[in-house]
Amino acid sequence: MTTREIFDSMEYGPAPESAAEAMAWIASKGPEFGHFLDGAFIEPGEMFETRNPANGQALAGITQGTRGDVDTAVRAAAKAFPKWAKLSCHQRARYLYAIARLLQKHSRLFATLETLDNGKPIRESRDIDIPLAQRHFYYHAGLAQLRDAEMPGHAPIGVCGQIIPWNFPLLMLAWKIAPALAAGNTVVLKPAEYTSLTALLFADICREAGLPKGVVNIVTGDGATGEAIVTHEGIAKIAFTGSTAVGRRIREQTAGTGKALTLELGGKSPYIVFDDADMDSAIEGLVDAIWFNQGQVCCAGSRLLVQEGIAAEFHARLKIRMGRLRIGDPMDKSVDIGAIVDPIQHAAITAMVTGNSDGETFHAPIDLPDRGCFYPPTLITGLHTAHPLMQDEIFGPVLVSTTFRTPTEAVEIANNTRYGLAATLWTENLNLALDVAPKLSAGVVWVNATNLFDAAAPFGGVRESGFGREGGWEGLSAYLKPAVKLTPAKSIATPKIPDTPAAPSLDRTAKMYIGGKQARPDGGYSQAHYSRQGALLGHTGLGNRKDIRNAVEAAAAAKGWSRTTGHPRAQILYYIAENLSARAAEFETRLQDLCATTRAKARMEVEATLETLFTAAAWADKYDGAAKGVPLRGVALAMPEPVGIIGALAPDAAPLLAPATLIASAIAMGNRIVLAPGEAAPLAATDLYQVLDTSDVPAGVVNIVTGAHVDLAPTLASHMEIDALWSFSPHADSAALERASAGNLKRTWINHAGNPDWHDPGLRPFLAAATETKTIWVPYGE
Ligand code: NAI
Repeated sequence: MTTREIFDSMEYGPAPESAAEAMAWIASKGPEFGHFLDGAFIEPGEMFETRNPANGQALAGITQGTRGDVDTAVRAAAKAFPKWAKLSCHQRARYLYAIARLLQKHSRLFATLETLDNGKPIRESRDIDIPLAQRHFYYHAGLAQLRDAEMPGHAPIGVCGQIIPWNFPLLMLAWKIAPALAAGNTVVLKPAEYTSLTALLFADICREAGLPKGVVNIVTGDGATGEAIVTHEGIAKIAFTGSTAVGRRIREQTAGTGKALTLELGGKSPYIVFDDADMDSAIEGLVDAIWFNQGQVCCAGSRLLVQEGIAAEFHARLKIRMGRLRIGDPMDKSVDIGAIVDPIQHAAITAMVTGNSDGETFHAPIDLPDRGCFYPPTLITGLHTAHPLMQDEIFGPVLVSTTFRTPTEAVEIANNTRYGLAATLWTENLNLALDVAPKLSAGVVWVNATNLFDAAAPFGGVRESGFGREGGWEGLSAYLKPAVKLTPAKSIATPKIPDTPAAPSLDRTAKMYIGGKQARPDGGYSQAHYSRQGALLGHTGLGNRKDIRNAVEAAAAAKGWSRTTGHPRAQILYYIAENLSARAAEFETRLQDLCATTRAKARMEVEATLETLFTAAAWADKYDGAAKGVPLRGVALAMPEPVGIIGALAPDAAPLLAPATLIASAIAMGNRIVLAPGEAAPLAATDLYQVLDTSDVPAGVVNIVTGAHVDLAPTLASHMEIDALWSFSPHADSAALERASAGNLKRTWINHAGNPDWHDPGLRPFLAAATETKTIWVPYGE
């Protein structure tokens, strides 16, 4: 090409990055790689090939990890744990800092190796993945340093099993390993089978940093290796990023084991463009939303919603921009779109798009390279909102689009998904953006920007996008456990019908409390409750599935409660306390009769209940969010949001205090609750609804269903409209509860390790379980 021709066409010239250094590293350390166990690479085992998806060439041999390999890794991590956990915060911080420095020193090697193995453009690995991974270790060196000062009374969990996907191999490793080590845990990490190389290079960095043996172990392999980690009994916590299907399976497999679990899963994130948006910026944003990393991004803005008035022009301009994207050799620095990670993923994307004949499909008119896994940028319009392509993750460079008329409709369509990972909003009206952002079911919202990430900003989903956060203090806390004393939940025997019943008094039949009304049990069965002296105290209904379903329906209808602010919630909690206080003597008598306890002990429980209500009221408007210090001109607001509808099973012990604690912490944070009182003395909790009735608690916010937990728990656990499940019950089968919760991936808090001291529970764990952080990014500037 002549210089004149270049001036005429303004075509980019080739700007290839050299693969030499990365290939030399592979040759020197491999080309066949064993696992990194207990501080050393072991001999390679049974091999599979990892290939460069841009040209199909084999890069290296990777060992398929066996159960035995996983066991060796877990033992090494368990052996290293006590010493690593005992280091001072400062000592651990120095290791993390050393790793960050070394990542920086080898950044070019990491970037080229990542692009060769994954197919992503070198521009992205060089400018985004690798710098963000470094930032993660620097930031977590700081969290390690401050851990004890800022999170006293917490301890690391133990050996963490971490399973990561192939779309951001080193970055996902950093998101997992940095907080785990900062908190004082040791790890066994499995990279995805398509992209193991940068994890192995990272292992080398750990050696260079002098990290003690066994603190980080890398086992390579496929899903079977992952499953061996998930099911290994020496693992105390599983952190997983990947598909929702595998995440659900992991939830089921860890059910009842007491393993802590965080899941970062798929998404179908809306990208909403209002008619006043800066259209060019919004289109440029879309390039980053859906063509970044070939669309293989869990939080990709893959569902474009455009306000009707501008839709035709927006789509037309978008198509022009799509035609100008540069697709080709990912090692070329001027390429926008690289290769799909593997022929299998390529085939999956192709099948989803070619299998559809609805709407209009536009493939950008760009020549694709002759070989390698390339897929053109694609836009599909004219699909109805329930269409499978509008609902299912394609995980490729394919955007689907529909229109909306009003902001309300935009929110409705945006939330019409089983996922809830991220959302993007484009509008010049900041008030509109900040009004819409809290209404979106998503863990992360970007305003006039997209796909911004930082170590300080919590990231993670709601609904079937998983639970738990990565990044910030929120992410660190997922690797710590509170050092509180727990005691096993004990069942308390209820007195049976006495041989010689006491003279009948006017017994009180407590109904259920559903939607603000007293309700008879659907099945028509009731249970009598006697005092230890043999006096009939009253009856409670034996609830069934139908009662739970009615209660959930009532809770769903009370969704306005989740939009209230802390102040009115606090007022109502104080009002409940006031009304309970007025009837304190009556409750004391009731507890005395029900629990055959002394007056003094009964009084203590009523007093403690009043105090808990005050504490919850106090927190209602003080459980603050934070403005995170992200390296950007702008703010990332981390806002605690209610999780939604909580299903809760109360213990037998503390029959008034425990239910009140569950109710108060749930509603203080804006949740609605369906509560099954303790089985031993449910009358203490049902008496409470008379107090609720007189305290302005809106109908449906608190629902009380009495009965046997074995009957009620399965419906609570499997109900698709319940967002979180808490169980402190000695009667429910914890494993079955967690397994059933996998249906809609509920957040669960199950009492494997025992129950707190209800007289001194410390409400923070309850408030944390009652909320999930939403991060709203608002960059500044015109
Ligand atoms: P995947 O969920 O199967 O793989 C992710 C990781 O989990 C890999 O390390 C894999 O080896 C491991 N794994 C697979 N089966 C396992 C099991 N039974 N137990 C434990 N670990 C297991 O994802 P895959 O098959 O690579 O991609 C399929 C789809 O998943 C994609 O098309 C995309 O929709 C979604 N995906 C979502 C990601 C995200 O970041 N949310 C990342 C990767 C994939």
